[in-house]
Amino acid sequence: MTTPRNPSATTAVRLTRVSKAFGLGDSRTLALKSTDFHAGEGEMHLVVGPSGCGKTTMLSVMAGTLNWDEGEVEVLGQRLNELSPRAITAFRGRHIGFIFQQFNLIPTLNCVENVSVPLLLNGASRAVAEKAAAALLAEVGLPDKLTKHPGQLSGGQQQRVAIARALVHAPRLLICDEPTSALDATTGRQIMELLAHVARAPGRCVIIVTHDSRIYRYADRITEMEDGRVGRILVGEDLRHFVNQPH
Ligand SMILES: Nc1ncnc2c1ncn2[C@@H]1O[C@H](COP(=O)(O)OP(=O)(O)O)[C@@H](O)[C@H]1O
Ligand SMILES: [Mg+2]
Repeated sequence: MTTPRNPSATTAVRLTRVSKAFGLGDSRTLALKSTDFHAGEGEMHLVVGPSGCGKTTMLSVMAGTLNWDEGEVEVLGQRLNELSPRAITAFRGRHIGFIFQQFNLIPTLNCVENVSVPLLLNGASRAVAEKAAAALLAEVGLPDKLTKHPGQLSGGQQQRVAIARALVHAPRLLICDEPTSALDATTGRQIMELLAHVARAPGRCVIIVTHDSRIYRYADRITEMEDGRVGRILVGEDLRHFVNQPH
């Protein structure tokens, strides 16, 4: 078991009274209801809550991939409200990595090529990008799959490729939506050790949405969501108590 640390006071992500609705009229859904959220630097932060409570919507807002209706969003010291859509895309490309529930790998590219993409988008040469991609694929346990295509891999292997792709440009903020749901217990543990290591590097932050109670023990802080809002925030003694409860 990793020991939770006191989360840092330095803000990595702050949402202030953020609201987001989908649809119109009778089909209108308020996915975020004037919610606040805070994550600190150097923190492994888990977001938990029932299906449909707004977890993916909140992650997408902090990643700048979804427009929100009201409120303030600050990421790594930058207020996203002040940036144009184009500037948000550039900011995301440099500083944010994502691991999605569906792996979103490019089927026509092999593993090394898939993992190289974020570096190529940031201007790295192909040789540099592919060397870094191969090293990271080895680190996630896939040294023998470098030239395989996603369709030739199991779900768990594809998820590990997606994790390597999210980490390859050393993003300061890593955002993960159910990253261990397709993994067996051993692989899930290896991936969480890797993510915990990333989270604790200075100036970085990992935020993970999960239903997987096996990974609660890696958290420095757990935020519970319910019906479009942040509820309890568990840290210190409360966090230890929560993690030790049966789930
Ligand atoms: N693109 C969308 N269009 C319409 N409704 C959506 C969309 N995305 C999410 N919702 C709705 O918003 C609410 C929150 O969804 P979501 O953030 O995906 O929840 P979670 O990730 O916690 O399961 C749900 O009621 C969901 O149906
Ligand atoms: Mg979701």
